[in-house]
Amino acid sequence: MQPLDWMHLSEIVPGRMNVKVLSDGRKAVVVRRGDALSVYSEICPHLGADLTEGQVCEREGTLRCRWHGYLFSLADGTLQDNPNERIMSELRTPSEHYRPDRAPAYRLSTLPHEVRGDRLYFLPGRAVRRGGDE
Ligand code: FES
Repeated sequence: MQPLDWMHLSEIVPGRMNVKVLSDGRKAVVVRRGDALSVYSEICPHLGADLTEGQVCEREGTLRCRWHGYLFSLADGTLQDNPNERIMSELRTPSEHYRPDRAPAYRLSTLPHEVRGDRLYFLPGRAVRRGGDE
Protein backbone atom coordinates (compact mmCIF):
# COMPACT_ATOMS: atom_id res chain seq x y z
CA MET A 1 0.00 0.00 0.00
CA GLN A 2 1.37 3.39 -1.04
CA PRO A 3 1.68 5.68 2.00
CA LEU A 4 0.23 9.19 1.96
CA ASP A 5 3.10 10.64 3.92
CA TRP A 6 5.77 9.79 6.39
CA MET A 7 7.92 11.29 9.10
CA HIS A 8 11.21 10.29 10.61
CA LEU A 9 10.76 8.83 14.07
CA SER A 10 13.52 11.21 15.17
CA GLU A 11 11.21 14.15 14.26
CA ILE A 12 8.65 13.07 16.86
CA VAL A 13 9.23 14.93 20.11
CA PRO A 14 8.52 12.48 22.98
CA GLY A 15 5.70 13.35 25.34
CA ARG A 16 4.46 16.23 23.18
CA MET A 17 1.82 16.64 20.54
CA ASN A 18 3.32 16.33 17.09
CA VAL A 19 1.14 17.33 14.16
CA LYS A 20 1.53 16.11 10.62
CA VAL A 21 -0.57 17.61 7.84
CA LEU A 22 -1.16 14.79 5.38
CA SER A 23 -1.28 15.14 1.64
CA ASP A 24 -5.04 14.45 1.66
CA GLY A 25 -5.64 17.43 3.95
CA ARG A 26 -6.21 15.54 7.18
CA LYS A 27 -4.07 16.20 10.19
CA ALA A 28 -2.52 13.50 12.33
CA VAL A 29 -1.96 13.86 16.06
CA VAL A 30 1.19 11.89 16.85
CA VAL A 31 2.37 11.30 20.41
CA ARG A 32 5.28 9.10 21.44
CA ARG A 33 5.61 7.99 25.04
CA GLY A 34 8.49 5.59 25.52
CA ASP A 35 8.10 2.90 22.89
CA ALA A 36 4.39 3.59 22.48
CA LEU A 37 3.25 5.60 19.47
CA SER A 38 -0.27 7.04 19.19
CA VAL A 39 -1.54 8.29 15.83
CA TYR A 40 -5.01 9.81 16.00
CA SER A 41 -7.28 11.79 13.74
CA GLU A 42 -7.44 15.49 14.60
CA ILE A 43 -11.24 15.38 14.78
CA CYS A 44 -12.64 15.29 18.29
CA PRO A 45 -15.32 12.57 18.50
CA HIS A 46 -17.55 14.87 20.58
CA LEU A 47 -18.32 17.80 18.27
CA GLY A 48 -15.44 17.84 15.83
CA ALA A 49 -12.97 20.28 17.36
CA ASP A 50 -9.43 20.25 16.05
CA LEU A 51 -7.52 18.15 18.56
CA THR A 52 -4.21 19.59 17.38
CA GLU A 53 -5.25 22.58 19.49
CA GLY A 54 -5.69 20.32 22.53
CA GLN A 55 -3.33 19.59 25.34
CA VAL A 56 -1.22 16.49 25.93
CA CYS A 57 -0.30 15.44 29.47
CA GLU A 58 2.66 13.10 29.26
CA ARG A 59 2.55 12.13 32.92
CA GLU A 60 -1.11 11.06 32.75
CA GLY A 61 -0.95 9.84 29.17
CA THR A 62 -3.93 11.92 28.10
CA LEU A 63 -5.12 14.35 25.46
CA ARG A 64 -7.64 17.06 26.42
CA CYS A 65 -9.83 18.73 23.80
CA ARG A 66 -9.86 22.48 24.19
CA TRP A 67 -13.49 23.01 23.26
CA HIS A 68 -15.32 21.18 26.07
CA GLY A 69 -12.48 19.60 28.00
CA TYR A 70 -13.12 15.97 27.21
CA LEU A 71 -10.12 13.92 28.26
CA PHE A 72 -8.93 10.93 26.24
CA SER A 73 -6.38 8.20 26.92
CA LEU A 74 -3.43 8.33 24.56
CA ALA A 75 -2.95 4.59 24.99
CA ASP A 76 -6.27 3.48 23.49
CA GLY A 77 -8.29 6.63 22.73
CA THR A 78 -10.96 5.95 25.34
CA LEU A 79 -12.76 8.77 27.11
CA GLN A 80 -11.33 9.28 30.60
CA ASP A 81 -13.32 12.29 31.73
CA ASN A 82 -16.33 14.16 30.41
CA PRO A 83 -16.62 17.38 32.42
CA ASN A 84 -20.18 17.96 31.19
CA GLU A 85 -21.37 14.60 32.48
CA ARG A 86 -19.51 15.06 35.74
CA ILE A 87 -21.21 18.42 36.36
CA MET A 88 -24.61 17.10 35.26
CA SER A 89 -24.36 14.16 37.64
CA GLU A 90 -24.00 16.61 40.53
CA LEU A 91 -26.95 18.73 39.38
CA ARG A 92 -29.48 16.14 38.25
CA THR A 93 -31.06 13.03 39.55
CA PRO A 94 -31.15 10.14 37.08
CA SER A 95 -34.55 9.75 35.47
CA GLU A 96 -36.00 8.40 32.25
CA HIS A 97 -34.86 11.66 30.60
CA TYR A 98 -31.42 11.76 32.17
CA ARG A 99 -29.57 8.46 32.01
CA PRO A 100 -25.88 8.95 32.87
CA ASP A 101 -25.34 5.23 32.35
CA ARG A 102 -26.22 5.82 28.67
CA ALA A 103 -23.72 8.62 28.05
CA PRO A 104 -22.11 8.23 24.62
CA ALA A 105 -18.85 6.28 24.59
CA TYR A 106 -16.69 8.78 22.75
CA ARG A 107 -13.32 7.50 21.58
CA LEU A 108 -10.45 8.86 19.51
CA SER A 109 -9.98 7.44 16.02
CA THR A 110 -6.67 5.99 14.93
CA LEU A 111 -5.31 6.92 11.52
CA PRO A 112 -3.96 4.01 9.50
CA HIS A 113 -0.19 3.92 9.92
CA GLU A 114 2.80 1.67 10.23
CA VAL A 115 6.40 1.96 11.38
CA ARG A 116 9.05 0.66 9.02
CA GLY A 117 12.66 1.17 9.89
CA ASP A 118 13.13 4.69 11.19
CA ARG A 119 9.97 6.09 9.62
CA LEU A 120 6.31 6.42 10.53
CA TYR A 121 4.17 5.96 7.42
CA PHE A 122 0.64 7.34 7.16
CA LEU A 123 -1.53 5.05 5.07
CA PRO A 124 -4.65 5.82 3.05
CA GLY A 125 -7.95 4.79 4.58
CA ARG A 126 -10.47 5.89 7.13
CA ALA A 127 -9.69 6.70 10.70
CA VAL A 128 -10.92 3.85 12.88
CA ARG A 129 -12.04 3.67 16.48
CA ARG A 130 -10.91 0.50 18.10
CA GLY A 131 -14.03 -1.59 18.04
CA GLY A 132 -15.65 0.22 15.09
CA ASP A 133 -15.34 2.61 12.17
CA GLU A 134 -15.48 6.37 12.50
S1 FES B 1 -15.52 19.06 20.60
FE1 FES B 1 -13.96 18.13 21.75
S2 FES B 1 -14.77 18.03 23.75
FE2 FES B 1 -16.34 18.91 22.60
